[in-house]
Amino acid sequence: MTRTLTIPRPDDWHLHLRDGAMLQGVLPETARHFARAIVMPNLVPPVVTAADAAAYRSRILAALPAGMTFEPLMTLYLTEGTEPADVVAAARSGLVKAVKLYPAGATTNSHGGVRDLDRVRGVLEAMAEAGLPLCVHGEVTTAEVDIFDREAVFIDTVLDPLRARVPGLRVVMEHITTRQGVDYARSVPQGLAATITTHHLIINRNHILVGGIKPHYYCLPVAKREEHRLALREAATSGDARFFLGTDSAPHIDALKEHACGCAGCFTATNTMPLLAHVFEEMGALDRLEGFASRNGPAFYGLPVNDATLTLVKRDSATQWPAKIETGAGPVTVFDPGFPVFWDVAG
Ligand code: NCD
Ligand code: ZN
Repeated sequence: MTRTLTIPRPDDWHLHLRDGAMLQGVLPETARHFARAIVMPNLVPPVVTAADAAAYRSRILAALPAGMTFEPLMTLYLTEGTEPADVVAAARSGLVKAVKLYPAGATTNSHGGVRDLDRVRGVLEAMAEAGLPLCVHGEVTTAEVDIFDREAVFIDTVLDPLRARVPGLRVVMEHITTRQGVDYARSVPQGLAATITTHHLIINRNHILVGGIKPHYYCLPVAKREEHRLALREAATSGDARFFLGTDSAPHIDALKEHACGCAGCFTATNTMPLLAHVFEEMGALDRLEGFASRNGPAFYGLPVNDATLTLVKRDSATQWPAKIETGAGPVTVFDPGFPVFWDVAG
């Protein structure tokens, strides 16, 4: 039986770091295990211009504790006012690695997102030309569409037509939660990838709703039926390079999660790597964890695989994590998988 596993240091291809005291509190949780992360731009106000991204990058590096290394890969928040020239210059300089499409109103701090895709066509064409990926929050926001159907409807009514209109645009379907998401990613031979979160490999919608409502399992896109979780597990562990890790670790203070109108987001930065080792072992695919967490992402983004490594070790007693991370902004509850996990990060 495998007791240790050493892989190239993993990266997180979808992460929320926030700003200020929250950034200070959560950044070490990611930097402890991950070399790089695609950092989401949904701050208040959002990271819209290259200048915003440069300033945010400096704040992230300033918040990094002495002795830790971490490379933030910056993104821009696409708005109907985004200037193609600003995006292209930010990509060419290496500052910005992707642009994020939030349909207006789809999730936390997305009210400034895109309402009419025709209005951002010029930006998308410039991105296709420059090879800069579009990271897509793939949910429609129309009130008539059931929340559990919003991803599948988005693929058919928005994503597929968009890809046809802007050929050559590289797309990341972020945090896919459905079999339809898996099938669509598989149907595109190149130029499209999909990230999968840790928590969507572990919970389905029953975990949120059965036996009392569990606010710390509520995130967007919301977890779906068990058949979808199984499709995600199969995709993540299949070895298909179109699928890679984006934790979507999204910290909110407990007071806003345990609330009458609770915020969406699961905080998984602390324990993602042990949880993934558990899931991949359960699937008989431990040897594929390094593809999912360390190799497929850099390959899609055209970046080198990290030279440094991370060693996971399986112990006889269950790994203990802090139930909460104390941040200057307030406590943040760490994702609880609901079962014992014997894998841990060595060192
Ligand atoms: C994210 C957040 O809190 O910023 N929440 C979430 O549930 N994933 C936003 C997002 O990525 O949708
Ligand atoms: Zn997110």
